[in-house]
Order: sequence, then C-alpha cells, then structure tokens
Amino acid sequence: MKGILLAGGSGTRLHPMTLAASKQLLPVYDKPMVYYPLSTLMLAGIRDIMIISTPADLPQFKRLLGDGSQYGVRFEYRVQPSPDGIPQAFLIAEDWIDGAPCALALGDNLIFADHLSLSLQHAAKRSSGATVFAYQVRDPERYGVVSFNEQGKALTVVEKPTDPASNWAITGLYFYDHRVVDFAKKVKPSPRGELEITDLNRLYLDEGTLQVERLGRGCAWLDAGLPDSLMEAGQFVHTIQARQGMLVGSPGEVAYRMGYINADQLRAHAQRMIKTELGRLLMQLADTVPDQS
Ligand code: G1P
Repeated sequence: MKGILLAGGSGTRLHPMTLAASKQLLPVYDKPMVYYPLSTLMLAGIRDIMIISTPADLPQFKRLLGDGSQYGVRFEYRVQPSPDGIPQAFLIAEDWIDGAPCALALGDNLIFADHLSLSLQHAAKRSSGATVFAYQVRDPERYGVVSFNEQGKALTVVEKPTDPASNWAITGLYFYDHRVVDFAKKVKPSPRGELEITDLNRLYLDEGTLQVERLGRGCAWLDAGLPDSLMEAGQFVHTIQARQGMLVGSPGEVAYRMGYINADQLRAHAQRMIKTELGRLLMQLADTVPDQS
C-alpha cells in the first residue's frame, strides 16, 4: 500500500502564523506538525509516501524530510497547484499510485491510541473497500460526520452538516483500495467549489464497502487547524511525553520499532538532535529496545 500525506491549503484559520509558514510545519510542542500524521502512516506499515503541498511550501517539506532514507522509507514530493479539495491528491498522484491501494493522511491530524498500530495495519491490509476512523466530538459541524444504524453500520456521511445526525466526526486518515483514483475522478466539486473527501467516501458507502472504525475512549484525535486546537495538541503531546517519557509522533521511533532502520541508524538520527529531549529519548530507545531490523 502507498500513502499520501496532504499538507496543502493556505491555513487561513491560523493567520497570521501561516502567512509566511506552512501550517503543517508549525510546532506541535517539540516537533513539526507533519511528523504526527507521517508517524501514523509509517505505523500502518506504509513505506512509500508522497508528500503533497503548495508550490511555495513544498521545498520546506523536502528540506525537513529528505528522501526518507533516514527512516528507511521512500518519500516522493508533488505540488498541488491550487487548493481544490482533498480527493484531488489522488488525481495528482495517479501515475505514482499506479493501481495500488492508497492511504491518505491529512497533515494537520494527530491520532494517539493504544494498539493503534494493529487497527492501522488491519485497515492497510483489507483488500477491497475503504476504511475510515470516526471519533466523538462536541462540534461535529466542523467535520465530515457519519451516522450509524442500530446495528452500528454506517448509514450516512455528510460534510460539515449544519444539523449533524450524530457527533461522530470522520478523522483525516483514510485507507482506500486500488480503485481510489477511478472513484476520485467521479467526485464533482461541492457548492464551496472543492472536491470533498466525504463525497469520495460516499461512493464506497453506497456500494456497501465503507468500513468505519470507531475510536473509543482510550484514543485522542486532535486536529491542529485553529489556534486553540493547535495549543491543545501541543499540551497533549507535552503531557504524555513529560509524564511517561514516551514519544508521540516521532517518525524516528516508529522507523526503529517497525524495523525500518537498525539501532546504529537510529543513533545517527538521534545524534543530529542530541541537544534536545527528543534526541536523548531516541538515543535511549536505541540502547534499550532490541533491534527489529
Ligand atoms: C477535512 C474533511 C473532513 C474531515 C476533516 C478532518 O475538513 O473535509 O471531512 O472530518 O478534514 O480533519 P477540513 O479540515 O478541510 O475543514
């Protein structure tokens, strides 16, 4: 399976912070925002990842992430010339996807959960249909919303409903089968002039192959698209890391635990930021956790 990390948009809800910097490169506590969804894709077992961003911001992502070899994965880069909606990513990446199944992670979404890697790897291995994740929120009207019937089967998906049928928001992490590009081509622009990911999901829902995984109490899903949620996300990461000494959203850690890099590679990676707590925690990981590579 391939994976797309979409880090486009103009971040208007975070102006003036995003007037000169990409939203997905803003810090969430001690890491750039994009590290978190990147870690999620890598945790799903995905090693071919395309990063899509605006013409102005893409060079910064290249500078930050390189070719992926430091994490034992492969990064490709491509421009989204104008922000015409999330499913456009599949059209931009069509030749690279080349008929493979493909996941998509939004660059401003953070998911933190126990046993997350198992559900992600399960979603990545499903051979047909699509898998999305839903999370209960207080303000569903800000998101794509899914409603369920009594048996817990997904019934409707609606983008930013004024009168939400449930409080289950669809998170910015999507797994699609090999037909995703064909389905994306069928999506028409919405009244706000964008291709909507919810319309793509509805195509799978209508044929009965949309799997909606509900993330329960033990999970945190944060989107960092507003000043308050950006600060909350940073505080959340800080709390877990400070209290438990556990890393959240570190692609280096995931690369090592998944066996994409060996202990020496992790040490070299950690050494580059050894003046930070992150660098020290990564170094400790190389010394204490057995090499899986
Ligand atoms: C997008 C999607 C929405 C989804 C959300 C998750 O919204 O359109 O369905 O629930 O991401 O973060 P946007 O951030 O573009 O408003």
